[in-house]
Amino acid sequence: MSERYAVVGHPVAHSLSPLIHGLFAAATGQDIEYTKIECALDGFAATVEGFRAAGGRGLNVTVPFKVQALQLATRPQPAARAAGAANALRFAAGEIEAENFDGLALVRDLTHNLGTPLAGVRVLLLGAGGAARGALRPLLAERPAVLVVVNRDVAKARQVVGELGHEPRARWCGYGDLGDERFDIVIDGTSASLHGELPPIAASVFAPGASAYEMVYGKGLTPFLRLARQAGATRLADGVGMLVEQAAEAFAWWRGVRPATAPVIERLAVPLA
Ligand code: ATR
Repeated sequence: MSERYAVVGHPVAHSLSPLIHGLFAAATGQDIEYTKIECALDGFAATVEGFRAAGGRGLNVTVPFKVQALQLATRPQPAARAAGAANALRFAAGEIEAENFDGLALVRDLTHNLGTPLAGVRVLLLGAGGAARGALRPLLAERPAVLVVVNRDVAKARQVVGELGHEPRARWCGYGDLGDERFDIVIDGTSASLHGELPPIAASVFAPGASAYEMVYGKGLTPFLRLARQAGATRLADGVGMLVEQAAEAFAWWRGVRPATAPVIERLAVPLA
């Protein structure tokens, strides 16, 4: 019988995870069943327990349950602990292991898929919510020259950078404090584009030939990417690669086989024009 996996969220109807994992399973010859579970807002723990009790092997977790997923874990892994949230669970030997592959996936998409090395460059990260928090340590591990976290609520930016401890490369500030600083890579880790909004950055933050990365996927040319293009950024990307890479990490963690991501990214990419 196929081993069972699923994505849990609310809402979950539009999740691409079943399609992505189905493509991975076909490409690697793995016999799995992967479904979507729409979960009541107050029913996450019971849903996870029910799935596990019925023999389920692992879950992807999406909004708004990523923080609860970490809290449920009996063995939270370091990246999930650092992010304060988990996006993948694995059930084995009576344990609930929790991982967070988002930050690793972002770095892999930038460096490996998009050919945008982070070492020695100036990086600006917009946002200090769950998405930005998960990205912070994996980005710093690539040794950028500087990484500035900017957020509307400056106290949150200060907190997430403060949690890193001694980290001379990382700084925080408010949007009004950026002055005429320029960055080689600007990453939108806010949820602004989900609402068609533009974070309050000036076009001048983009250095000539900069790269702009939108963590949200499938929205085409968002206000952030539009500004980046007008400001002279030469490489624009949305989060489709990050989505597929985090799925591949989860698949490898569950199944011990890492699928190729390029064909799946190509299949799901939405034109940015
Ligand atoms: P997620 O898990 O997607 O990061 P979140 O934790 O709710 O979601 O965080 C949303 C982030 O997007 C926050 O950094 C938020 O900024 P504030 O903390 O200042 O609210 C940011 N955000 C949302 N809409 C924004 C907008 N229109 N402009 C700038 N930042 C925005």
